Amino acid sequence: MKKQLFALLFALVPLTAMAAGGASVPYSMTPDLDDKASLQRGMQLYTNYCMGCHSLEHQRFARAAEDLGMPQDLVEENLIFSSDLAFNDQMHIAMNKDDAEAWFGAPPPDLTLESRLRGTDWIYSYLLSFYKDPSTGTGVNNAVFDMVAMPNVLEPLQGVQEMVCSETDRPVEGAELDPLTGKYQSCDVLQVTQPGELEPDEFEEAVYDLTNFLAYVGEPSKLQAQTLAPKVLIFIFIFGVIAYLLKREYWRDIH
Ligand code: HEC
Repeated sequence: MKKQLFALLFALVPLTAMAAGGASVPYSMTPDLDDKASLQRGMQLYTNYCMGCHSLEHQRFARAAEDLGMPQDLVEENLIFSSDLAFNDQMHIAMNKDDAEAWFGAPPPDLTLESRLRGTDWIYSYLLSFYKDPSTGTGVNNAVFDMVAMPNVLEPLQGVQEMVCSETDRPVEGAELDPLTGKYQSCDVLQVTQPGELEPDEFEEAVYDLTNFLAYVGEPSKLQAQTLAPKVLIFIFIFGVIAYLLKREYWRDIH
């Protein structure tokens, strides 16, 4: 009976993963919360390109500034665009939820916990996977989130990306391996056909920084824990030495 239960459990794992993921997640990234420069660039990109629509309800500007090592005046001058928002406020947006739903057909969700909900690989892949599709209302579609209601707001940076037939090193879905070249033939290859402000690798870095920032926002206390941990260890070590010396002192006369 136990065995069967286990078997059932294991059978369910990929099923739930599929239900949560939907389309495949082609790219991966490893967040680096120690890379403050990356997190700062990510926050700058976020406030410039995303905060028009997506709030971070559980994040305050002041907390982010402190954690990421940014002075208050710099944040106030460069990252807070709404006159309704102050340094100590949460990162709200001015847009009303109902308006947003009417405009886009789906409300842009709050992204504070997005990195926990979807995972950083998903966010990273999603932001890299917009492509031109004249049949949709926004003129773009997304290989990771089919028929997404979000416009491709990073297009000025990335350029126009299209889905083309080409060779790829990566076994994308439905691709066929060409035994002669060792490459995959696929008609689901995303390719930038009109360059934007950034080169493709620079754009990937920008998307990395943005995703890294969202990883931080999902778990701001992790950053604190990381800086606290070495201090706690040093404390325990010094305390241990003192306790040991004290113990020796106490027992000296008894032996
Ligand atoms: C013009 C408004 C707008 C802007 C600006 C915008 N988004 Fe969106 N975004 C949306 C809408 C609308 C959706 C909901 C899409 C849907 O459900 O079809 C969405 C969905 C998302 C999702 C998926 C949420 C989920 O799990 O379902 C992520 C992640 C996301 N946006 C990230 C970003 C990031 C990062 C930026 C900045 C680079 C950004 N968005 C800028 C409108 C916007």
